[in-house]
Amino acid sequence: MADNAAVSVTHLAGPLLQAQVDLVAFVAFGDPTRDPVFKSADQALGGVLSDVAKSESFEGKSGQLISVHTHGRIPARRMIVVGAGARGEFSATSARDIVATIVQAANKASVASLAFLLPALSGNREAALIQHVAEGVVLGGYKFGRYLTGEDHKRPTSLKSFGVVTDASPKAGKKPTAAAMKQFAASVHRGEVIAAAINHARDLINEPAAVITPTALGLDAQAIAKKHKGTVTATVFGAKQCAELGMGMFLAVGQGSSQESKLIHLVYKPAKKAKKKVAFIGKGVTFDSGGYSLKPSAGMEDMKVDMSGAAAVISAIDAIATLGADIEVHAVAACCENLVSGNAYKLGDVLTSMDGTTVEINNTDAEGRLTLGDAITYVRTKIQPDEMFDFATLTGACMVALGPYTAGVFSDHEALLKTWMNASERSGEDMWRLPLNGRLREQLKSPIADMRNTGDRFGGAITAGLFLKTFAKDTPWVHVDIAGPASVSSTRPSQPKGGTGFAVATIVEYATSR
Ligand code: BES
Ligand code: MN
Ligand code: ZN
Repeated sequence: MADNAAVSVTHLAGPLLQAQVDLVAFVAFGDPTRDPVFKSADQALGGVLSDVAKSESFEGKSGQLISVHTHGRIPARRMIVVGAGARGEFSATSARDIVATIVQAANKASVASLAFLLPALSGNREAALIQHVAEGVVLGGYKFGRYLTGEDHKRPTSLKSFGVVTDASPKAGKKPTAAAMKQFAASVHRGEVIAAAINHARDLINEPAAVITPTALGLDAQAIAKKHKGTVTATVFGAKQCAELGMGMFLAVGQGSSQESKLIHLVYKPAKKAKKKVAFIGKGVTFDSGGYSLKPSAGMEDMKVDMSGAAAVISAIDAIATLGADIEVHAVAACCENLVSGNAYKLGDVLTSMDGTTVEINNTDAEGRLTLGDAITYVRTKIQPDEMFDFATLTGACMVALGPYTAGVFSDHEALLKTWMNASERSGEDMWRLPLNGRLREQLKSPIADMRNTGDRFGGAITAGLFLKTFAKDTPWVHVDIAGPASVSSTRPSQPKGGTGFAVATIVEYATSR
């Protein structure tokens, strides 16, 4: 849960060192002794800051931090300096981790209020920077602590107010314009809404599979629709309705589980006539045991995260509806559990998909493409969007190719791909294009059906993409394999271990800024 939901991000009049708060914080780009902000702060503290920087080898590198007592020399009783690395490498999205670091240090020092000096950024990027500051505050307070019973975990965090000083050296009596204040508030709101949606996706991912079943995801979607009555509607189809739709691939995956498979469909409609229709599809396998192609224990341990795509598209609708968009946005997630039982689907089974294509199963662990294939057909034929995107923890091969932090992006639609990659650049989510090399399709040939569901080990992320492309047909489509970044085993200040909420930020950015 987001413990810091109560932290308010406000604008503070400068100068920073006069702020009536418990703590002041600012960043240093590289060597602090050459930084004018650092120098004036050091002067105000009578040289204490540079002494500490020296003794703690603080060089302004990203991730470094010094914290000193001010001993009454300025109104704030504590000062924090965070390293931001080289100025040239600093981007608006770097603010997330810097701010999360400050929030965590402030809570550790039990302070209630702080003032943070917004670093100057070249170009017209202040609005984005402020947005990412607000995201850093909300993301930096995230902790999945529901199942921790110790007293430490129950104590509320101390920080209540995060003040932002936007002008390093304001002239006396000069006040920011009303327009600037309005822009500030809008950027903060945008950041808070997006980060809350990311934290919500993280909660859905981090909850055990015993809690987040397909039914639970359906209820979550319905709660979002209820929250945005008038603009968002939710439809949840059960197994019977999916059978009527002919979703033979999707239903086969879930047939070994006693949890009913659910197809979730959320729609956001703008008040005015929508400029276009976009669909976001998420893989919603609430637990992936591999089925009869059973995963070894180590590979299965983390498989509650296999619904991260569904978590992202559902959570994103919440943020999109709050922020408003001029396009119609659909979120679709075919949710089920991939288990073994007397009813489970088997190797050698031949499935008939919603579009009529027959598929021979040669690996029950390649289940995501089966669920998504039918979800894509549902979207393409029932929604008929102008564009569709899918997000799936689809292949280990994609992680082998790109590592744990980068998503693989596949599309034959150059213009759509470009717009998407630009949105990911602005949201700071790492994505990289991989090819949909048609020659690999030969790996998907079956002697008894139109296709089989898996190819060879080499190019595994690509054959998965080609399998999905069969169902996307001519609808402009982008496939995003988030197997790596959907959950992480290493931490950063804005991101503890576990579910990341990856893709939420780019989906919201894509849908709301055009
Ligand atoms: N859910 C997994 C992919 C995955 C692996 C996600 C690691 C997150 C972390 C997917 O269903 C799967 O099992 N893929 C197989 C495909 C193979 C059988 C062709 C894989 O990657 O091994
Ligand atoms: Mn699998
Ligand atoms: Zn899976």
